Amino acid sequence: MYADVARDVIGCCRSLATFSDEPGFTTRTFLSDSMRRVHADLSARMTRAGMSARVDAVGNLRGVYPGASAGARRLLIGSHLDTVPHAGAFDGVLGVVMGIALVETLHGRRLPFGIEVIGFSEEEGVRFGVPFIGSRAVIGEVDDALLAAQDARGITVSQAIRNFGLDPGRIADARADASPLGFFEFHIEQGPVLDTRQLPLAVVDRIAGRSWADAIFNGHPGHAGTTPMDGRRDALAGAAEWIGRVEEHARRTPGLVATTGQIDVTPGAVNVIAGRCRVSVDVRHTDDDVRTATVDRLRSLAHEIAARRGLGIDWSPRLAQSATAMDPSLVAMLTRAVERTGAPRMIMSSGAGHDAMILAAHMPAAMLFIRTPGGVSHHPDESVAEGDVAIALAAGVNFLDELAGSIDG
Ligand code: GLV
Ligand code: MN
Ligand code: MN
Repeated sequence: MYADVARDVIGCCRSLATFSDEPGFTTRTFLSDSMRRVHADLSARMTRAGMSARVDAVGNLRGVYPGASAGARRLLIGSHLDTVPHAGAFDGVLGVVMGIALVETLHGRRLPFGIEVIGFSEEEGVRFGVPFIGSRAVIGEVDDALLAAQDARGITVSQAIRNFGLDPGRIADARADASPLGFFEFHIEQGPVLDTRQLPLAVVDRIAGRSWADAIFNGHPGHAGTTPMDGRRDALAGAAEWIGRVEEHARRTPGLVATTGQIDVTPGAVNVIAGRCRVSVDVRHTDDDVRTATVDRLRSLAHEIAARRGLGIDWSPRLAQSATAMDPSLVAMLTRAVERTGAPRMIMSSGAGHDAMILAAHMPAAMLFIRTPGGVSHHPDESVAEGDVAIALAAGVNFLDELAGSIDG
């Protein structure tokens, strides 16, 4: 039924993927020039759909489609517009374009609630090492410490906001209007579950928690040709041993994933023993006790390895995000919406983090996953099937209808 719209949505995402900080790849970081181009493109689409569009003080793109009455509450629909480096075309942005497409399906018809589509400016945490800056502004949780965080070039969040032509003094205005009806996010699954089971959609009931930390190994730099192997305090060799233990620990723990995705080595030359090595770790599990116990264990392992090798060790926590349940009544409503499309019922938890977990602390939140062929994500080969996007739109329309009925009723 929505095949044409689905084709258009996919085409729009693929075209937005060319707006990038890095030629030849899709890399779109918080408040970059490529983000400005995405804002221009999607604002025009929002306006054509009968929405008023603006960019708030933290760079979130927001389009409001009014409800039938002036005081109508709003349903927030959205996802993020930033990407990881060398990303695919759908993580995040698909949820924003789907939100606008859902409004387009109304053809100006008013519902008993307004809709605000939000393209969050920052979810991945790439530029400042802190995720969810966009959604945190919407719930009023951007504080001075966050505004003072610096990117790799020493630019603070406040300065980045000013450089983009926005006013960090107005961040409070980014807060959602009082008592939204809830938050709804379309997102690709980003894993293999739906593809393996040959299902188009799943309703998300829970999002795994995650912890980020840096393990910093400090050794003694020296000459690679003259320092005997026995006398070395090689920070990178210690880090490498720890990285192997992290992987081993995660493999042994059911449901746990742990990733050491970033490493910096100082001074970083072929013929110099590493004096310092920072390794990031990302730990996720749907059970917060397992996650926090894992972080404790990985920190102890880092200390044990460092002590045995005569290295110093610093442990720097960067993020602790609890597992988050989606709202049970919206989950039930979304499940019915999926079933009414004729697609099988499927409910699953999310291993990836999402803006919905930030908004869920302040309003009922729900998410709909769309099958990701091959489970490929955070990679240029990420894709979605037109038929799945069409069913997701149909489910979204059903969801709006039932929500409207529940308010009318
Ligand atoms: C966001 O993509 C995450 O890291 O889960
Ligand atoms: Mn992502
Ligand atoms: Mn995402």
